[in-house]
Amino acid sequence: MKVPFVDLAALVAPDRAAYLEAFDKLLDTGGFVGGAAVTDFEAAFARHAGAAHACAVKTGTDALLLALRALGVGPGDEVITAPNSFFATAEAISHTGATPVFADVDDATLLIDPVEVARRIAPRTKAIVPVHLFGQLADVPALRQFGVPILEDAAQAHGATRADGRAGSWGDVAAFSFYPTKNLGALGEGGCITTNDPAIVERVRRLRDHGQADRHDHVEIGYNARLDAVQCAGLAISLRRLDAGNARRREHAARYRAGLAAIAGAGTVRLIAEAPASQPVYHLMVIRVAAAHRDAIRAELATAGVATAVHYPTPIHRQRAYAHLGLAAGSYPVAERAAAEMISLPMYPDLGEAALDHVVASLIRALE
Ligand SMILES: Cc1ncc(COP(=O)(O)O)c(C=O)c1O
Repeated sequence: MKVPFVDLAALVAPDRAAYLEAFDKLLDTGGFVGGAAVTDFEAAFARHAGAAHACAVKTGTDALLLALRALGVGPGDEVITAPNSFFATAEAISHTGATPVFADVDDATLLIDPVEVARRIAPRTKAIVPVHLFGQLADVPALRQFGVPILEDAAQAHGATRADGRAGSWGDVAAFSFYPTKNLGALGEGGCITTNDPAIVERVRRLRDHGQADRHDHVEIGYNARLDAVQCAGLAISLRRLDAGNARRREHAARYRAGLAAIAGAGTVRLIAEAPASQPVYHLMVIRVAAAHRDAIRAELATAGVATAVHYPTPIHRQRAYAHLGLAAGSYPVAERAAAEMISLPMYPDLGEAALDHVVASLIRALE
């Protein structure tokens, strides 16, 4: 049996007719950039996130960059974030001219640890960027105590909730990615910011359009970071199945957890802890195994037809691009250890029960 890591064609197939109808309409009108397709999608996405405003941009990385700039982050500033994210989280900070300052994560949830953040707060700290890693919400209320603006990196967490908040409605501003594999994916690249602050959304709108306050009135140096109408029309359709897709992902996670419970008890595999009263959306299903056996286990799974991945094998502070920060191995022991132990298992709404059970059985065999 072959179990792919994701299956994007299967994901979009049921909506094929709706996409084609929407694209037909755009072909008739010629409205490929801007217009109702963009503003309608932004309104629908803001509503879904529980935020007052949304502004669609070209990528999740642009969403982070423009959000940081809207918070006034720039050269000489420091921004605290987690070292165990996709590279773009720190990259966006660097693009503003600020310096990323990493804070280690909690060993059970792999989310940024507020105690570690407290150790890194300094007079130059201009913002904190918690990452809702793998679809589970970081503890934004605990980060509020520092009185520093918060940008949620919600690229992996569309629709994730806790008793006290929802991705995109909690921080001063949030950044989402619509990279095709994300819980809400575009038919290409895409991103979005959400916020309750009208000044922030206005600034992001301006920045995404060359810093124009009005036509031909450029009040600052901006970007061309507009998300086109074709992607927005597609995203509006895909958004309708986000909740059902997230519910399926949670069901799959529960089945994985049940299937792995016996060996988890024996200590050969560790599962990522779920915060109480939370509804993670399982962008990824990540397990941890002994670092020494990780590659062999992945190879055995591959032999059994099970595709896996690692998110992410090298923490950001150990990437060559950040060698100038001088952060030696051992600087962030929790993130570094997790990076050596993690395996991402297949996880997508259409993952069948038989396929999932095959992954579990193959994993148990590989761990024996
Ligand atoms: C946590 C995180 N932040 C930022 C990004 C960047 O998003 P994009 O690829 O849309 O630029 C991604 C996804 O790739 C991500 O997973």
